[in-house]
Amino acid sequence: MGTRSLCFLLFFLFLGRCCCQYEPTWESIDSRPLPEWFDQAKFGIFIHWGVFSVPSYGSEWFWWYWQGQKLPSYVFFMAKNYPPGFQYQDFAPQFTAEFFDPEEWTDIFAASGAKYIVLTTKHHEGFTLWGSKYSWNWNAVDIGPKRDLVDELARALRQNTDLRLGLYHSLFEWFHPLFRADAANNFNTTLFPQEKTLPELYEIVNKYKPEVLWSDGDGDAPDKYWNSTGFLAWLYNESPVRDTIVTNDRWGKDSICKHGGYYTCTDRYNPGHLLKHKWENCMTIDQRSWGFRRDAKFSDYLTIEQLVKTLVETVSCGGNLLMNVGPTHDGRIIPLFEERLRQMGQWLNVNGEGIYNTTAWRAQNDSVTPGIWYTWRPQEKAIYAFLLSWPNNGYVVLSDPIVSDSTQVVMLGYKPLKWDPLKPSGLQVYLPTLSPVEMPCSWAWTLRLTGAA
Ligand SMILES: *[C@@H]1O[C@H](CO)[C@@H](O)[C@H](O)[C@H]1NC(C)=O
Ligand SMILES: *[C@@H]1O[C@H](CO)[C@@H](O)[C@H](O)[C@H]1NC(C)=O
Ligand SMILES: *[C@@H]1O[C@H](CO)[C@@H](O)[C@H](O)[C@H]1NC(C)=O
Ligand SMILES: *[C@@H]1O[C@H](CO)[C@@H](O)[C@H](O)[C@H]1NC(C)=O
Repeated sequence: MGTRSLCFLLFFLFLGRCCCQYEPTWESIDSRPLPEWFDQAKFGIFIHWGVFSVPSYGSEWFWWYWQGQKLPSYVFFMAKNYPPGFQYQDFAPQFTAEFFDPEEWTDIFAASGAKYIVLTTKHHEGFTLWGSKYSWNWNAVDIGPKRDLVDELARALRQNTDLRLGLYHSLFEWFHPLFRADAANNFNTTLFPQEKTLPELYEIVNKYKPEVLWSDGDGDAPDKYWNSTGFLAWLYNESPVRDTIVTNDRWGKDSICKHGGYYTCTDRYNPGHLLKHKWENCMTIDQRSWGFRRDAKFSDYLTIEQLVKTLVETVSCGGNLLMNVGPTHDGRIIPLFEERLRQMGQWLNVNGEGIYNTTAWRAQNDSVTPGIWYTWRPQEKAIYAFLLSWPNNGYVVLSDPIVSDSTQVVMLGYKPLKWDPLKPSGLQVYLPTLSPVEMPCSWAWTLRLTGAA
């Protein structure tokens, strides 16, 4: 290669890699293709952990409900159980994490079949799970566990698994004086983002090199106040994770479901139809809280049937599922959460072929038979039909696939099944009579159709 062409090559490499490919405008930020791994992954685990895990009552919004909104049940809970003058800050020393074993956590996450995790590094209470320079005396290294929880979990995840690390970070903090001051000025001043939010964001990205940055908590302020596009331009152009990082849409009160990376729209978003833009359904096993709460009833926890149904519906409509567990103040993932995670993994061990690396098919659910959802695997040209219940009559009607002479139907984890074509279209698949031990799985069954369109 001549000097001249080497020069050109270096010039283009330089242009392509660094500086200025993305500009700090939504138009430019939104034009970045989402790194492929995220759509292929389909399933992640959300972890809400913080000082709110100490009272573990009601919700991770405990502080706000108690002292912001002053909801009677929270005020009463404090008056009844804590001495007068007890402050939210007094919970921090009790955030002890003595049973936190990051390897045990990462074993459980890997067993669930998830491909990524997202940990709350800082929720709206402002307490950072890492030793942030910008959260003086209100972080897990200075008080409570006296450990860098983000670092420990990140290391264990990378050493023991091939799951990707995601970090949740709240833009605003309910009671931070600088945020309150900016809010009182109608967000015409930007003390809080400049002194707190943005320095923290640069800190966690540079330090832990996450591959998901899950932003939340706009505090009713516009993305201009947060300088979100400025930060995202740095993240996409220059940060150490610029090639693989994925972000969501919660970057200001007008950006949700419109701008950023993939869409989250609302909590527990599950539209039931295909979206053009990549999206994620973030939801909780405990239906009423993201943080662990001691007052949860057995019936508040979703069953594995409900969770598998949610995964199947979400993936059929082009989404990823981000399923949340809330660990305890002493660092445990309670057995009920662990059981749900391991059950999901058992189900995915048999049926994952129809989930991972698939795309949405022409139809999302069957247009005649209720409770049947579809995905498509382009490499194998295979259609997957998920049966959320086992029919009583020995067969199931799939009305949307177009069959041919070479059509084959296989139940994943079992064998090929007999079928007959139907007029004007579709097919009737005969289900075998199986004893419980012959069942490939128990919560939803997958039929793979090849040679069909
Ligand atoms: C402050 O912000 C409000 C709303 O964002 C805006 O309408 C107003 O013009 C601003 N005032 C000043 C003095 O900049
Ligand atoms: C916003 O972020 C960009 C990129 O980091 C930076 O260059 C710019 O100065 C920031 N703007 C403000 C107003 O802080
Ligand atoms: C999905 O595709 C990726 C990239 O092509 C590959 O590395 C991975 O093994 C695939 N996973 C599954 C479960 O097919
Ligand atoms: C397909 O799913 C949509 C959205 O959940 C639902 O409204 C519709 O009734 C379903 N179709 C059938 C045949 O169950």
